[in-house]
Amino acid sequence: ENIPLELHKVRVVQKLHLVPIERRLKALEEGGFNTFRLTTKDVFLDMLTDSGTNAMSDNQIAAMMQADDAYAGSQSFFKLQKAVEDVLGKKYFLPVHQGRAAENILCHAYIRKGNLIPMNYHFTTTMAHITQYGGRVTELLYDEGFNVDSDYPFKGNMHIEKLEETIKTHGAENIPFIRVEASTNLIGGQPFSIQNLREVRAIADKYNIRLVLDASLLGENAYLIHLREEEFKNCSLGEIIKTMTDLADIVYFSARKLSSSRGGGICTNDHEIYRELEPLIPLFEGFLTYGGISVREIEAMAVGLYETLDETMIRQSPDFIAYLVKSLDDHGVPMVKPAGVLGAHVNAMEICKHIPQNEYPAGALAAALFLVSGIRGMERGTLSNQRDEDGNETLANMELVRLAVPRRVFTLSQIKYVVDRMTWLYENRELIGGLRFVYEPPVLRFFMGGLEPV
Ligand code: F0G
Repeated sequence: ENIPLELHKVRVVQKLHLVPIERRLKALEEGGFNTFRLTTKDVFLDMLTDSGTNAMSDNQIAAMMQADDAYAGSQSFFKLQKAVEDVLGKKYFLPVHQGRAAENILCHAYIRKGNLIPMNYHFTTTMAHITQYGGRVTELLYDEGFNVDSDYPFKGNMHIEKLEETIKTHGAENIPFIRVEASTNLIGGQPFSIQNLREVRAIADKYNIRLVLDASLLGENAYLIHLREEEFKNCSLGEIIKTMTDLADIVYFSARKLSSSRGGGICTNDHEIYRELEPLIPLFEGFLTYGGISVREIEAMAVGLYETLDETMIRQSPDFIAYLVKSLDDHGVPMVKPAGVLGAHVNAMEICKHIPQNEYPAGALAAALFLVSGIRGMERGTLSNQRDEDGNETLANMELVRLAVPRRVFTLSQIKYVVDRMTWLYENRELIGGLRFVYEPPVLRFFMGGLEPV
């Protein structure tokens, strides 16, 4: 057996509770069958997300004790600015309170009504901000990106011919930026290759369009490039990361993922871009040397960015995910393949074939898994989609339940428990029924929406 081996020891722990199934059913009813609305006292293994839940290191915690509290000119900020320059290779850095705040600022600065933003694939908050400012998203993956059961190593690649076609059809003047997302989240944490990013860069240059990189899951994308892209198999993570960021005009990230703390940021080497974005930080976030983040978290971010270069840290989660995907696949459970990053992705479209997409098969599977196990996953399918301009449901390309594996949080025996329970549920899948909304919020409905069994 190929056992993933941790190169860390656990020195601070938190107690978990496995409550009886009767309580779990009650919790589901109270939470509108929406795993976002469960509370952690009812949850055994919290696989909702890796956002802000990755384990922090002893060095991060230690750094938090030495933070420099100041409204303006905090030394903690300068440490972070240096870390951004050292790790991401960008000298201008704007801090924001989390990833979506960076999206708000970029969209506020650059998107005008009717603009189109080409990208490999959307993320929920990205799409919401773009449409909020009157823009539209077009997703340009290759067909392999949508094929859940595949051995294609770079499903996050952007379709180069379609990108050029899109620019010709819509006009470069209506495209303020092209966005590429590292470890493309919603298609199963799937990477792009550097070869592909170079081709995107060439198109951006040809038509003089800014290239924006969402680097929230950059370290993991770099790790998979190291494993899968021949040219980079002998390169360090640091070299791969710099190669990626060098190709983008603007890099932004959620530090709740990259660096495993809180906060986020936007960075660039272009002084004009910096000047365009700078005034928006005090308007939306806070002064330029804290950006809505506590100075303690800024210290942790700085240390975390350097730790992203450590392969023993970055690989722990992808290696556990690969183990989880392989084990479930061996038991016949339909999984997104190849294994990606941030979580294992269960193919609810296949498992819940008996549930129509407008009854949210992935939402139903996530609720059922919680009921039979206390494991909290996240729906990533039609329920997470937003309605179109006319209020119609937009059916997702994929119906996934994401079982996030935050870095250095779970043990292998807990992962084996997931395999056992998910396999049982798969074997008894006809018990799962669809859901419908009883309360549907107008924006990002999946967060606080309430549902009931159909
Ligand atoms: N971009 C990507 C690729 C993300 O995965 C996220 C967050 C964001 C932007 C927004 O960052 O949450 O700090 O505002 N992803 C989390 C998740 C929420 O669970 O996948 P944020």
